[in-house]
Amino acid sequence: MKEYDFVVLGSGVAGLTFARKAAAHGSVAIITKRNGADANTFYAQGGVACVTSVEDSFDLHVQDTLTAGDGLCDPAVVRAIVTDGPARIRELVELGVPFDEREIEHGMKELDLGREGGHSKRRVLHSRDTTGREIEESLLRAVRTHPNIEMLENHMAVDIITAGKLGYVTEDRCLGVYVLDEASGAVLTIRAGRLILATGGCGKVYLYSTNPAIATGDGVAMAWRAGARIANMEFIQFHPTCLYHPDARSFLISEAVRGEGALLMDARGRRFMQKYHPLLELAPRDVVARAIDAEIKRTGEKCVFLDITAKPAGFVRERFPNIYETCLRYGIDITKQPIPVVPAAHYQCGGVLTDLSAASSLRGLYAIGEVACTGLHGANRLASNSLLEAMVMAHRAYEAIIPKGPARGEKVELPEWKSGDVQDVDELVVVYHNWDEIRRLMWDYVGIVRTDKRLQRASARLRNLRAEVQEFYWNFKVTTDLLELRNLVTVAALIVDSALSRKESRGLHYTLDHLAKEDKYARDTVLSAG
Ligand code: SIN
Repeated sequence: MKEYDFVVLGSGVAGLTFARKAAAHGSVAIITKRNGADANTFYAQGGVACVTSVEDSFDLHVQDTLTAGDGLCDPAVVRAIVTDGPARIRELVELGVPFDEREIEHGMKELDLGREGGHSKRRVLHSRDTTGREIEESLLRAVRTHPNIEMLENHMAVDIITAGKLGYVTEDRCLGVYVLDEASGAVLTIRAGRLILATGGCGKVYLYSTNPAIATGDGVAMAWRAGARIANMEFIQFHPTCLYHPDARSFLISEAVRGEGALLMDARGRRFMQKYHPLLELAPRDVVARAIDAEIKRTGEKCVFLDITAKPAGFVRERFPNIYETCLRYGIDITKQPIPVVPAAHYQCGGVLTDLSAASSLRGLYAIGEVACTGLHGANRLASNSLLEAMVMAHRAYEAIIPKGPARGEKVELPEWKSGDVQDVDELVVVYHNWDEIRRLMWDYVGIVRTDKRLQRASARLRNLRAEVQEFYWNFKVTTDLLELRNLVTVAALIVDSALSRKESRGLHYTLDHLAKEDKYARDTVLSAG
């Protein structure tokens, strides 16, 4: 049995920010599935939306966020997160994150702010097109050298230990977590009176995604099994422009490319966004993703094209070095040719329901970053609001938790993990088959455009898959693959159940059977197993 003052699951910007701050007050464990940098944050290209310019204002950022959220944002939460932003940006600058600047007159410099869809002003701070990598690496340097922080890499949380599950009848609360050590195959029992979920989203529940392989919805699935309330899982954001190439998986072409003037075209070089929205290429992300989906279906082509060749080649190479180099490796010179792109699952707007202190409905369990549903994003996230939310909410969780003092959990006996012992490699083929089946059925039936019938089909198939996966789980030795499969099937079912209960189209949830938005659905979809 291990014991820490604070246990953080996940090593993206949210988890690392919290860990670094909490380490001044006690021992911290960061538990992360692969290595530290294997987090969605690392791949974030666009940047951090934050009001830093005199031409901008908190009111405008709040308004843009509410407009994107399509009636489901919590205005108080939006204002709190937007106004906390500049202080968190200052901390990143002190940590050494090199946000790009541009020269104004007399050698003076100011932040070079990017523009993305749905923003009425340039307000996205960036470090060329590798903003997430810069933030992640700066934070990792800080936590890896901190004497109070232990980073358990290649360790995956299995389940949250709760008083309720152990049969205690007092108010339910989090007592700890079971964690698989991948190298030894042992499952550790870790006591944690305060558990911070910062496990990111669930993009990998879909066949095509901009997310790295770790994004399997682990936090939401564990919180659900522990009885915490989960909200708004029907709102999955599809990024309009993922590179389409047989050898490239999951490579994002940042919205910032459109922000700098790139145009969308069909295979014959004709622009099409004028048919869909007055803001053309800078329309809100859901509109652009649906437009591309419709064009692909209409023309029967495999992709559309994003063309930035009208910009000077030097500017493109300087502003987007990562996109330029990566595309070049796949034989596409973006300064001379349009980029083939398709939409792909990108961001989970719902998640573990929390308040503004990041507290979930289960005592002792906190959620920060993409895994959480704070009320910031509503039915559709405004571009580049996610890194902002992750930093602000990590700080808010820290501020809420520290005055309570370190909590090591109630000193009740925590039972050791009991594992099934079958390890039949022949059956692994079933695990991989189920992975593929879930991801394909979610893409085909629960994607950008939905219908009641497709959702019902998905629901029926997922019921069977869940039963199969449960059987594996109880009988087999747990492995990372099996645990991820179990989490994926749980999260897929939460997305489908939430989508089935919303008989309207709003934000990212678009269904051909209920095209109108309805006042009676202007509320969160909240699910709970507890
Ligand atoms: C992008 O660079 O387009 C992604 C930014 C985001 O998802 O917020």
